[in-house]
Amino acid sequence: MTQLKNDVFLRALLNQTVEYTPVWMMRQAGRYLPEYRATRARAGSFMGLCTSPDYATEVTLQPLERFPLDAAILFSDILTVPDAMGLGLYFAEGEGPKFERPLRDEAAIKALVAPHVEDKLQYVFDAVSSIRKALDGRVPLIGFSGSPFTLACYMIEGGGSADFRHLKAMMYGRPELLHHILDVNARTVTEYLNAQIRAGAQAVQIFDTWGGALSGPAYREFSLSYMQQIVSGLIREHEGRRVPVILFTKGGGQWLEAMAETGADALGLDWTTDIGEARARVGDKVALQGNLDPNVLFGSPEGIEREVARILASYGTGSGHVFNLGHGISQFADPAHAGVLVDSVHRLSRTYHTQ
Ligand code: CP3
Repeated sequence: MTQLKNDVFLRALLNQTVEYTPVWMMRQAGRYLPEYRATRARAGSFMGLCTSPDYATEVTLQPLERFPLDAAILFSDILTVPDAMGLGLYFAEGEGPKFERPLRDEAAIKALVAPHVEDKLQYVFDAVSSIRKALDGRVPLIGFSGSPFTLACYMIEGGGSADFRHLKAMMYGRPELLHHILDVNARTVTEYLNAQIRAGAQAVQIFDTWGGALSGPAYREFSLSYMQQIVSGLIREHEGRRVPVILFTKGGGQWLEAMAETGADALGLDWTTDIGEARARVGDKVALQGNLDPNVLFGSPEGIEREVARILASYGTGSGHVFNLGHGISQFADPAHAGVLVDSVHRLSRTYHTQ
């Protein structure tokens, strides 16, 4: 295996000493980059990118060619997992992801079984191997999946939703049916992430994009407990190194203590929680990743630098912080502004890491 040339991201996730604060951006490979749009046009579709290891490798590396990012993230999507369960993922132009066969009746839910990930999702593991080869030790590669709950939102609603009406009807009316879906999802995601780790993912992130739509008790019962089950089942050491796990619940700032109890190495923060306060609450247990409002990139370079400086100061001195956006970068963001973000983090953070 090639030696990692830059392991600052992995060290920060494990609260080990670093020289500067590492940075990557959620959705760093995507439509805000003209070179991504060009490759997507050649591939014909978004799923054409995901299912081809060559295209997935090309777009994963695109943001790294532009910016000195400290990590790469596998190019794929969280919804490949329900697709592998037979729900029929498709992307309606301008409408986002949809499923042909959403889970709406008891018979369909009871028929749902965990797929054999090596059969159905081998293209993802092939992409991981191919990206690792292309990175040649430049930076670590992050693997990922959706949380069981966030996947269930799309599986039941059949696409995006403003109110999660069908899911909540099930949660409050037939909770055992939702638990069955979540159990299948948790077992599948565990296998899926472990296969990504075996293929070469050096850290993994669980995206719980919609957990914040729940009440506290419902969050624990329907989202957190299944993420806990996954964390407990993951391979934690590979190629002689610890494989850090990052949990990100958007809107989950009030539940950080409970999230830190899962055994995750790091928690992702959106921009609604102060990172200094979060550190005071859970910083002795976990590293923190975040937490710039992605819309800061719509402002001026000076405004970006100011917000970066504010977040670095709020976190304070010492390791345990991975700089990131609090959610994915917008397709309308200016790539030059993303560059300002990365450079500001590297330049302004050094003073927080001198011994
Ligand atoms: O660079 C990276 O971060 C890696 C790639 C990545 C994608 N999706 C590519 C993508 C990752 C990590 C995801 C995760 C994902 N996908 C999440 C969790 C993170 C989050 O943003 O909350 C969710 C909820 C999805 C589901 C999904 N996929 C939606 C809602 C959409 C459409 C809306 C949108 O933001 O574009 C997608 C499509 C998608 N996934 C695109 C990309 C680059 C755009 C597709 C295109 O090229 O048209």
